[in-house]
Amino acid sequence: MKEVVILAITLIQFSILSSAESNGVTIDIIHRDSPLSPYYNSSMTRSDVLINAAFRSISRAKSFKLNPSLNLADETIVIPNYGDYLMQIFVGNPPTKLTAIADTGSDVTWVQCLPCEVCYKQDDPIFDPRNSETHHVIPCDVITCRSLFIHSCGNGGECQYEAQYDSGSFSKGILSTDTISFNSNNGGQMVKYDDTIMGCGYNNVGNFKTMEGGVVGLGGGPLSLASQIGTKIGKKKFSYCLLPYDYSQGNSKMKFGVDTQTQRTIVFTTPLVIKFPSTYYYLSLESVSINGKLVKPFQNVGNIVIDSGTTLTSLKSDLYDQVEAAIIEVTGSEGVVERDQAKPYKLCYRDGTVQNFPLISFYFFDADYGLHFTESNVFGKVGDFYCLLMISTEEHSILGNFQQVSFNIEYDLDQKTVSFAEADCTKE
Ligand SMILES: *[C@@H]1O[C@H](CO)[C@@H](O)[C@H](O)[C@H]1NC(C)=O
Repeated sequence: MKEVVILAITLIQFSILSSAESNGVTIDIIHRDSPLSPYYNSSMTRSDVLINAAFRSISRAKSFKLNPSLNLADETIVIPNYGDYLMQIFVGNPPTKLTAIADTGSDVTWVQCLPCEVCYKQDDPIFDPRNSETHHVIPCDVITCRSLFIHSCGNGGECQYEAQYDSGSFSKGILSTDTISFNSNNGGQMVKYDDTIMGCGYNNVGNFKTMEGGVVGLGGGPLSLASQIGTKIGKKKFSYCLLPYDYSQGNSKMKFGVDTQTQRTIVFTTPLVIKFPSTYYYLSLESVSINGKLVKPFQNVGNIVIDSGTTLTSLKSDLYDQVEAAIIEVTGSEGVVERDQAKPYKLCYRDGTVQNFPLISFYFFDADYGLHFTESNVFGKVGDFYCLLMISTEEHSILGNFQQVSFNIEYDLDQKTVSFAEADCTKE
């Protein structure tokens, strides 16, 4: 641990901080259940992890509340809880190192700030903007402030933001600009982005863990870090290649401002559907193939959100029921465990009773190639059972991160597309 700290300090002091890198940045993201995660609990079995993941996914899927006909002026926007991935960022100048939640389900990046009115306990030192030479408060009469969903004016005319989470957690504070830097994997250099818009949270309450110094917003809105860095680099795209959560030889990579699909043989691209709120990445799932048999959702424009922060894919119950029936058609019903024996999983087999699991693929609008899942993307051992790692929902369908493992996924915010390619994420 000490070596890591010393190394980090050395990097800060001796690397030349380069502004607005034109060739992008590559950083590690850590799944909360990974053996390399600060949350890792070695006494939890794989089934414990999968059961927790399912409950977390249900809670997060519920919080993607989407109703485009609402009167926006009366509505507060609530952020889905707790993404699954963590990343390290450095805030201010001189830089303060923090671990934060990397969240494709929210836009505003915020960190806890001193002097706190209320802060939850945090392992890393809390960022003190008074010590940062590059920290500036954003006034409330500028468009940046007015573009925030929840904002107000402070006594000194400063822009106050508020991020409300579905669980009742929140962060309130002052919208500011400062330098945000990353320890980039390509070359081990610090890459810094000046004048990045972020929230300095002085009043942060809720179910945050001590390793979480804040949230990095990677949604599709203009204030998200993904949009801001993209604008600075001149290429508004980011990508990630996710490793299985139990892989222990390294972390998954996220890249900003880099073309990551050009060298790959099979890439397919599908348009992002722009709906309210612009934060969420909506795609159109046209059909699900189960050994070649196609089942279709009732409605398909923008019917699924792709989210890195939700663990399991949830499908609206009409589609889920068709998928489940088609799987049982292939496997036969022998060995199928009575529903809800492994709650919240619905389709489970007595372990060892079924050998021939079908090939399952998702087909998206305007893409001639499907997202072909391997067995480990879609089935896993839960206690004594072997279960379909997807859940049924009455809310919105979400493409979760288990079903994104071993694909390189690139979000192009200029072209408004998402592209997928099968990839060995250990080599990224
Ligand atoms: C680790 O997991 C075990 C088994 O689920 C649990 O009893 C224990 O409380 C967990 N420890 C922590 C620190 O969360």
